[in-house]
Amino acid sequence: MEYKETDPVRLSEDGRSIIAIDQRFLPEKTEYLKISRIEEMVDAIKTLAVRGAPCIGVFAGYSMAVLALDINKDHESFGADLKSCGALLVASRPTAVNLSWAVNRQLKLIDGMKDAPAEDISKSLMEEAVRIHEEDISMCHKIAENGLSLLKDGCGILTHCNAGALATTRYGTGLGPMLLGAKKGMKFKVYSDETRPLLQGMRLTAYELIRAGVDETVICDNMAGLLMKQKKIDAVMVGCDRVAANGDTANKIGTSSLAVLAKYYGIPFYVLGPFSSIDLSCKTGEDIVIEERDPKEISSLYFERDFSIEGVKYYNPAFDVTDNALITAIVTDKGILYPPYTESIKNAK
Ligand code: MRU
Repeated sequence: MEYKETDPVRLSEDGRSIIAIDQRFLPEKTEYLKISRIEEMVDAIKTLAVRGAPCIGVFAGYSMAVLALDINKDHESFGADLKSCGALLVASRPTAVNLSWAVNRQLKLIDGMKDAPAEDISKSLMEEAVRIHEEDISMCHKIAENGLSLLKDGCGILTHCNAGALATTRYGTGLGPMLLGAKKGMKFKVYSDETRPLLQGMRLTAYELIRAGVDETVICDNMAGLLMKQKKIDAVMVGCDRVAANGDTANKIGTSSLAVLAKYYGIPFYVLGPFSSIDLSCKTGEDIVIEERDPKEISSLYFERDFSIEGVKYYNPAFDVTDNALITAIVTDKGILYPPYTESIKNAK
């Protein structure tokens, strides 16, 4: 496939490493990581150098393929070695389903080629990784088109975290309609929550939208209610990390409070993501594991001074679950799903 420099994840020219934008340094610097070892892959995911649910999935697909190149192919443990690497990747972040989805897709391929020579398995893993990437691009485009059908030109949209091209490939999910609308000459007024504690909204979403020529304003997370009261917001659009079979949705911490506010003010609240983000093994949001991260992200990471106070605890869950009753629609590549979600998810084709 043809890669672009703006792709958050792509294959190196010799096909033996992954080139990833190190998202920790955006927007000040665009630095690229060259990754080929399992420790580097796990570290990139854990530190959020590579982040955003679909993007982690694409990265995991390539990771399995790149790792296969260096595992001793004469050794009979080739498949088992790859499986252990897959387990390490899956364990690096628990909430986004795309990570295990992509790794499992590669593991299934290995299982289906048990008697094939390691060289052939390796080649197929690379082809599958590229397929996962290409599918993500086309899914995002469909999501963007479906989402755009819900918006009127000139409307005000609030978004949270970053669900743009950096978090996926090319179009994004939650930001897709705004990016696609801008291409078509539509003029939205977009408000992005800064998204404490890692500031994905202020650092990444604002950067992506302004480069796409969108009218973009950053607000602190605690300002959303006022903007809704001021009638500046006509719709809320967010991405998702995992959707349960009943429509309960895990996304960046702070998403569920926005949904509660939106319900109160009668504003539609849309979740956007690939159909593969729906995890039928989770009956409800209760079954979704929420990642907890280093408390230092709250007290010192983006401050010049360390505000930690001895004896004070800092609780840092990275995601929350929005109840399905608060979600107006789930916009997927397979169409727009409406409540009751257990039914619409089951019937989606
Ligand atoms: O911790 P992050 O930055 O990986 O969290 C990202 C989000 O919560 C996104 O909204 C979600 O992954 C969807 S991205 C299209």
